[in-house]
Amino acid sequence: MKSNTEKFGKTPHQPSLWTRADALKVHADDPTTTQPLVSANFPVLSNEVFIWDTMPLRDMDGNITSVDGWSVIFTLTADRHPNDPQYIDENGNYDITRDWNDRHGRAKMYYWFSRTGKDWKLGGRVMAEGVSPTVREWAGTPILLNEQGEVDLYYTAVTPGATIVKVRGRVVTTEHGVSMVGFEKVKPLFEADGKMYQTEAQNPFWGFRDPWPFRDPNDGKLYMLFEGNVAGERGSHKVGKAEIGDVPPGYEDVGNSRFQTACVGIAVARDEDGDDWEMLPPLLTAVGVNDQTERPHFVFQDGKYYLFTISHTFTYADGVTGPDGVYGFVADSLFGPYVPLNGSGLVLGNPSSQPFQTYSHCVMPNGLVTSFIDSVPTDESGTQTRIGGTEAPTVEIKIKGQQTFVVAEYDYGYIPPMLDVTLK
Ligand code: FRU
Repeated sequence: MKSNTEKFGKTPHQPSLWTRADALKVHADDPTTTQPLVSANFPVLSNEVFIWDTMPLRDMDGNITSVDGWSVIFTLTADRHPNDPQYIDENGNYDITRDWNDRHGRAKMYYWFSRTGKDWKLGGRVMAEGVSPTVREWAGTPILLNEQGEVDLYYTAVTPGATIVKVRGRVVTTEHGVSMVGFEKVKPLFEADGKMYQTEAQNPFWGFRDPWPFRDPNDGKLYMLFEGNVAGERGSHKVGKAEIGDVPPGYEDVGNSRFQTACVGIAVARDEDGDDWEMLPPLLTAVGVNDQTERPHFVFQDGKYYLFTISHTFTYADGVTGPDGVYGFVADSLFGPYVPLNGSGLVLGNPSSQPFQTYSHCVMPNGLVTSFIDSVPTDESGTQTRIGGTEAPTVEIKIKGQQTFVVAEYDYGYIPPMLDVTLK
């Protein structure tokens, strides 16, 4: 198969490349791009459920929005099973690690509300059992559409397959809380095409998920970001000069990095309601660098496009590495070219002493970054850990040109609104 640059030759735009040379600049534990240590004494949102990916309610321009003074977040959620014989080990103890690791297979979309932008109260499931067409309800974005409280929830329907879908409902508030009504008809939007975006048939480990719709502040059109892999049979991708970048002598060997083929996908809506979409070539590819660029999202600031995406240590290719966390790229126009922030792309990574403390970071337009707690060591050696499944402390970053800086830390799960909408 052709290299990435050859493959997308005749398309409307050239995907920008996150190169191996860029990734060589990633350094864990730089204090300006490292999340402060999360204490093992964290509080949990709920003893009944694990939560992970957090999706604040927002409008199509990206503003985090409260309704009638209530903040709302959606979360991927799974029951905890402390009494289920399936998760009791041979010593009679609850194997929370195994329960947590199995959560993706039973992920469901829940919502929470709050008057303070923290101390979240559980609202419940967004869709009743049987509404979503597949087993797993994976990440996406809830969009408040208007003052009538209509909400479009874009998400990923997974197993069988992986389809970007949306479901429309309504947020209703009272003095005492928030409920989500409707959310009864799920509309499939699109799946990987095998030409630009890799399909399950091409690679059983393919990724195609995490829709993030937005209105381009410049052309006013409706677009959507999503996570993908570059199309082609697994193992057929070429890691050529362009994907390698300008490496020093001795760094030309790419090993088996052809198996890492992440990209940030983009689609454009053919209609105003976002019911009809056309996939475009990826905005950014990471062939030969990393296999996952998850939950891509934008911050529009100073006339620039700041593209953020989360990634893992274990998904890096041979010869390059970096911490679990959020990475970023900046461009002057929507279709690029994108340049890695801080030279490397790393914006906020876990400290090497607690490599799995948090994940699934979402950078909000006010510079606050929310994430969830995965696991935090409870002893010096790091062999004992405490599983999270709850909100991490919010971190603030300052975005300046092509650089970012960690500047503050706030309470667990602090997601304040940027604007309030009074429902009619
Ligand atoms: C990120 C993620 C998403 C996916 C979900 C599945 O944490 O991998 O890409 O939608 O989790 O649980």
